[in-house]
Amino acid sequence: MQTLRDELRAVPSIVGRAPDFDWASAPDEPHELFVRWLQHAIETGVPEAHAATLSTVDEQGLPDARVLIVKDVTEDCGFKIATSDESAKGRQLVANPNCALTFYWSPLARAVRVRGVAQRAPGAESAEDFLARHPHARAIALAGQQSAAYPDDGAQAELLAQAMSTDAGTVSPHWSVWTVIPNSVEFWQGDPSRNHQRLRYIRNDHTWEKQRLWP
Ligand SMILES: Cc1cc2nc3c(=O)[nH]c(=O)nc-3n(C[C@H](O)[C@H](O)[C@H](O)COP(=O)(O)O)c2cc1C
Repeated sequence: MQTLRDELRAVPSIVGRAPDFDWASAPDEPHELFVRWLQHAIETGVPEAHAATLSTVDEQGLPDARVLIVKDVTEDCGFKIATSDESAKGRQLVANPNCALTFYWSPLARAVRVRGVAQRAPGAESAEDFLARHPHARAIALAGQQSAAYPDDGAQAELLAQAMSTDAGTVSPHWSVWTVIPNSVEFWQGDPSRNHQRLRYIRNDHTWEKQRLWP
């Protein structure tokens, strides 16, 4: 009988086709390379190329992780994300801003790992982000507390209906944009024969050091 282990062994991994990349001429700063890889992923149709896993640490020092959308990357390589302060991740980032973002673009056999510290953006930036969200997403954020226990369906429908009828300019006081300021950014490109290519940028005050890593 085929076990799950056998079944998993038979599933291929690193099936994407990595584009040609000249590692020797990689730019001196990670921002330019990240944007180049992200735009290439979008242009070649990688689904949700702007989605990443955000890893955080909770108050007991235990890790946590979930997928979210990266909304922008600033010229100085700040990764913008947005969430509710009332969510698990929101509370974790307030208590401990150390975090990581992981992107994986399977069709291109490419991944990017960002490790850094999150800084909460000014209120006006969070309000602008909140108002740019879909009306249903705004209503859900206004109606309840993200990551709290779910009420019954009837109670949720009532809370949502109330939130939908609030003024379109209402901003949740709990919505925050955060900027993840990296200490390191690693670019990884997979190879079917497992001779993967890795390039890590490490921040040294105002400059970046580049290191090639063993696969
Ligand atoms: C593709 C995708 C995009 C998501 N984008 C966001 C986002 O931008 N912000 C957010 O708070 N949650 C987002 N979520 C939901 C989170 O994965 C998560 O369920 C939620 O934020 C609660 O996480 P927490 O309890 O760890 O705080 C997204 C989920 C997926 C799958």
